Amino acid sequence: MNAAAIDGLLAALEKLPDNVPLRLNVARLLIQAGRHTEAIEQLNVVLAIDADNADNADTIQLLMDASAGLSTQGQTVEGSPAPSAGPNAQAASDFDWHRAEQELGPSLPAPFVEDHPESDPQAISGSTEGTGGALFDIDRPVVTLADVGGLDDVKTRLNESFLEPMRNPEVAKAFGKSLRGGLLLYGPPGCGKTFMARAVAGELGASFMTATMTDILDKYIGETEKNLHEIFQAARRAAPAVLFLDEIDSVATKRSALSGGAAWMRQTVNQLLLELDSMDAQNDGLFVLAATNHPWDIDTALLRPGRLDRMLLVLPPDRPAREAILKHHFSSRPIAGIDVKKIAARTEDFSGADLEHVVTSAAEKAMMESLRKGSVQAISMSHVNQALKDIRPSTRAWLQSARNVVEFSNSNGSYDELGQYLRARKML
Ligand SMILES: Nc1ncnc2c1ncn2[C@@H]1O[C@H](COP(=O)(O)OP(=O)(O)O)[C@@H](O)[C@H]1O
Ligand SMILES: [Mg+2]
Repeated sequence: MNAAAIDGLLAALEKLPDNVPLRLNVARLLIQAGRHTEAIEQLNVVLAIDADNADNADTIQLLMDASAGLSTQGQTVEGSPAPSAGPNAQAASDFDWHRAEQELGPSLPAPFVEDHPESDPQAISGSTEGTGGALFDIDRPVVTLADVGGLDDVKTRLNESFLEPMRNPEVAKAFGKSLRGGLLLYGPPGCGKTFMARAVAGELGASFMTATMTDILDKYIGETEKNLHEIFQAARRAAPAVLFLDEIDSVATKRSALSGGAAWMRQTVNQLLLELDSMDAQNDGLFVLAATNHPWDIDTALLRPGRLDRMLLVLPPDRPAREAILKHHFSSRPIAGIDVKKIAARTEDFSGADLEHVVTSAAEKAMMESLRKGSVQAISMSHVNQALKDIRPSTRAWLQSARNVVEFSNSNGSYDELGQYLRARKML
């Protein structure tokens, strides 16, 4: 969208001043064009028109985007909103966005990892012949393990099972370290399984491929087996490589857990078994990393030796991890007097995603207050406390169901690690 087009829409708005959807769109485009101050003016007008509309989530979201844009640009909110903005008309502020960010100390580094010198990204293409679309992504690494808060055990084990052998394949071979088989990450939703895998991608660069199973099903129902085969073939060509199968339960669910007789599901599982087994036979430097929230629903054939034979529990973030996650999410927002240690202490059982929700919700409240007062109010502990009143930790339901599994079907010891955690938490 170029400047002339935005000007055209602004002219249209003069004629249709009460058209809220149009004004929201203009604001959205202004944000995209980096014109955040103007976007905020438009959004203030929307709020003035739409004052008694309870459902203004869109407007608030855009306001947050615009202010985040301002803070990353290091601008201050200057200029006054449009005349029709009523009592909110004075949005001038000398708030120092940069200083506020620095208050949090060093924010999480997000450097772009250097490309692997040996690997050739051209050799592995995200699209495969005949399907006309990307079945998997070659991750552009942005996060690394240092960005993942806590979870030290998981990091260590990922390091041993993937990163070290990948970096020193000859040494690994000499020690007879099995380069075969795969590893299954499991745990409550929102606690960093996907994030962790992306971090491994960040460490490994181009030799990491992600395939989200739900996507494969959604887009290519009926062709799942063929697609799976193509994904594995592409990964083999890229070897040594890690192939990440996210949300694997969606293709590997036990038949008993399904409502109807889904024959195609059986075939998909068979294909997956075939791929994993042939990986074993060729010992071809292909590592499989998979993730699920529901390991107990997975067809047990997939968990046998040589297949996804190691399970790794990704638990809700402990206190230091919660601190790191909170810092990360506050770092792009205006804050004043935020005590992440205190918040971390009060958020046991919150998932990473829940913590993110706390921060965005506090930001929303600060934004509402800014609108009421006509000047930017940084996020404070009082906003956080209000947000905490409404947000419950989402991992407890998962832990409850996990409890039943450990209690009644842990005969082979697969869930010992989980059992330990639950006992430590006195849930078992
Ligand atoms: N340990 C963690 N460190 C930093 N951020 C985390 C962590 N766990 C979760 N998050 C945040 O929560 C979001 C959701 O986590 P995700 O990896 O998608 O969960 P899931 O386990 O369901 O795959 C992530 O994008 C990240 O922002
Ligand atoms: Mg996930």
